[in-house]
Amino acid sequence: MIIYTDQNHADIPRLLALFEQAPWARGRTADDIEHMLFHTDLMVLAWDDDSLVGCGRVLTDYVYRASIWDVIVDQTYRGQDIGTKIINHILTHPSLKRVELFWLCTRDKQNFYEALGFSTKEQTGMVWDRNKQPPISDPANP
Ligand SMILES: CC(C)(COP(=O)(O)OP(=O)(O)OC[C@H]1O[C@@H](n2cnc3c(N)ncnc32)[C@H](O)[C@@H]1OP(=O)(O)O)[C@@H](O)C(=O)NCCC(=O)NCCS
Repeated sequence: MIIYTDQNHADIPRLLALFEQAPWARGRTADDIEHMLFHTDLMVLAWDDDSLVGCGRVLTDYVYRASIWDVIVDQTYRGQDIGTKIINHILTHPSLKRVELFWLCTRDKQNFYEALGFSTKEQTGMVWDRNKQPPISDPANP
């Protein structure tokens, strides 16, 4: 049976192994993940006994906006409803019940998210990618 937990003290080596299965999360380091977990508002993990088989995380102000990141299910466990349950766990989580709008970005999983009620009709996102920008300085701290 798959158990769903929300805890920010995930076993980092197991999380690293899961992140290796998603193109955008490959190559993350234990140090960065520790920092990420500390500043993540909700981390949902899916467990098969002591195997970490799925994750999803949320950054939020708990009222107006929440963004969902790093939804990943282990390759050998896909197609078993685990991704759906991770998202539903997030959308129904008591700490997020006041949140008006949940936001996420996806390149090719629109069908998966549309089945869960997400819409592609309100595409308003823009991205600033530090790795693709020239260095800039803060005018308040020159
Ligand atoms: C996307 C992902 C999280 C789905 O997890 P999952 O546990 O396999 O999904 P579920 O079993 O809950 O599937 C629910 C539905 O979505 C569909 N679905 C699952 N993966 C899909 C995909 N890659 N593309 C389109 N539809 C998909 C399933 O067919 C299923 O539909 P059904 O109920 O009509 O059969 C998983 O494939 C994954 O980890 N992919 C790699 C990482 C990734 O791309 N994450 C999304 C980031 S935006």
